Amino acid sequence: MCGIVGYIGKRNSQEILLEGLKKLEYRGYDSAGVAVFTADGLQIKKAKGRIANLESKLEETPLQGSVGIGHTRWATHGKPSDVNSHPHTDNSLKFSVVHNGIIENYITLKEELTAKGHNFVSETDTEVISHLIADLYEGDILKAVQKAVTHMTGAFALGVLTEYEPDRLVAVRQASPLIIGIGEGENFIGSDIPAILEYTRNVFILNDGEMALLTRDGVELMTLEGNFISREMFHVDWDIITAEKAGYDHFMLKEIYDQPKAYRDTMGSRISTDGSAVTLNELVLSAEAIRNISRIHIVACGTAYHAGMVGKYVIEKLARIPVETDVASEYRYRSPIITKDTLVIVVSQSGETADTLAALREAKHQGAHVLAITNVVGSSVAREADDVITTWAGLEIAVASTKGYTSQLIAFYLLGLHLAQTLGTQSAVEIKEAITALRELPAQVEEILGQAEAIKVVAEEMAKHDNLFFIGRGLDYAVALEGSLKLKEISYIHSEAYPAGELKHGTLALIEDDIPVIALATQHELQEKTVSNIKEVKARGANVLGIAVEGERELQKSVDSTFLIPKTLDVLSPALAVIPLQLLSYYASLARGNDVDKPRNLAKSVTVE
Ligand code: G6P
Repeated sequence: MCGIVGYIGKRNSQEILLEGLKKLEYRGYDSAGVAVFTADGLQIKKAKGRIANLESKLEETPLQGSVGIGHTRWATHGKPSDVNSHPHTDNSLKFSVVHNGIIENYITLKEELTAKGHNFVSETDTEVISHLIADLYEGDILKAVQKAVTHMTGAFALGVLTEYEPDRLVAVRQASPLIIGIGEGENFIGSDIPAILEYTRNVFILNDGEMALLTRDGVELMTLEGNFISREMFHVDWDIITAEKAGYDHFMLKEIYDQPKAYRDTMGSRISTDGSAVTLNELVLSAEAIRNISRIHIVACGTAYHAGMVGKYVIEKLARIPVETDVASEYRYRSPIITKDTLVIVVSQSGETADTLAALREAKHQGAHVLAITNVVGSSVAREADDVITTWAGLEIAVASTKGYTSQLIAFYLLGLHLAQTLGTQSAVEIKEAITALRELPAQVEEILGQAEAIKVVAEEMAKHDNLFFIGRGLDYAVALEGSLKLKEISYIHSEAYPAGELKHGTLALIEDDIPVIALATQHELQEKTVSNIKEVKARGANVLGIAVEGERELQKSVDSTFLIPKTLDVLSPALAVIPLQLLSYYASLARGNDVDKPRNLAKSVTVE
């Protein structure tokens, strides 16, 4: 949700800012802008739309200077426009601010500042920050920012420059992520590591309530009150290549093809060499604590929430512990019953989603043990949870999550088996059988990927429709929800996912001639029931694509076309069944000429509530 980048060094900053913003474009792409100290003072360039628009402006009239800040925006307050773009400034044009987050009391601040004679030009909350800092400035930008933040409530990661002190860059983190990159004779700020990875692998991750003063030669970290702090440097060991498309047309396609590796890496050393047990050695949660768990809450947003729905089925089936799933933005407000025997599992690919983080804090506050499943080491969720299972999917850049989701499924399988081992709810033979099947998944995903062309043909046909339905029962319903979300996100085809048996309670009225229905039927015990529901939609003219397991004959007779996934245990089938659905969305989006990696109105990392 908005990306920030900043540079102070000896090189020309424009290139570095633009390259950094491109790496952060997944956080928002409604508009972009940069501010650079030039020989003529602090100069700002902004453009509505993608970073490419800003780049064209800068090609026409480049900004020369070795200190600057940049921003890519996902609009919250004020529509996407040049004037609402960051960096924002004050009336003297001497101060410049980029901001990620929301200033909740901006209306009050705006009124106060207006009364003092400040004129506002944008509809944004951010503009108050630049005016406030200008108002409080008495010759020291660090002090002015420290004073300003005491007036602000809400979430803010900031990069601040003033023309009066061209050798200083101030960065602030309060409830929105920010990292500091350490170079030689140059330093950086960024909302996320990819923004600066080309230049340095050494970073400081700021915590909430912290700030930094950057000069060319050093970085001082301190609290917002100005107390200096020391922090261990974090060395990034992943490769820049993971931040590139590696020959694929889109990040999403690359990430779909990354999945076999993501499955293998997430299982990694978490399975004993003889394949008889799962070893989640990283968990603080003891065997005794596991035996005391009375209920589990799984809390997440979007695709991660859908992984959580699979997690519920997996844990209840394998470990027989009652599980509730909640959308994070709802969780805190429904007075959930949390006791010290509640295990709260938060799932977040980025580890920075504001609602998920808020749910985590609430659960901790109420005394629950919080276990995070996240893909980003060092993220806020990872740092604040009591326990972490890291998914080793590697950097995910496409807004539509693919390998992020499936590696979360693998984490849930490992966790479910770990709980089952501890509680004795599955026999040693059953555990070994599940582990064997789990290890076969990566090769089975490769098999499915080998049939991408067949899915492309189906997708191109589906892309001609404006409405579509997914149905499934049990785990198939959870996968149907994810398939439907994926399709909506990037193809803009309206789709709904329904438990197959529920459709006739209203939504069946929408089924008409030739409407595509994707029926997931991978769960053997539910097969016959699902076939009956397929017949109900077929009788109303639907064109049904069945997703079933190899060897399935009955279903094939009831549908118009079938895609078969390799045989696996029913409980593991989501990790296979979702792959054709990801490809379907990808090719449908392509066929409709959409921007696959950057769907309209969305952002990958949602750091506002
Ligand atoms: C955004 C993304 C989704 C993602 C959701 C949760 O809406 O567009 O793809 O599933 O946030 O993100 P998280 O990083 O917490 O998994």
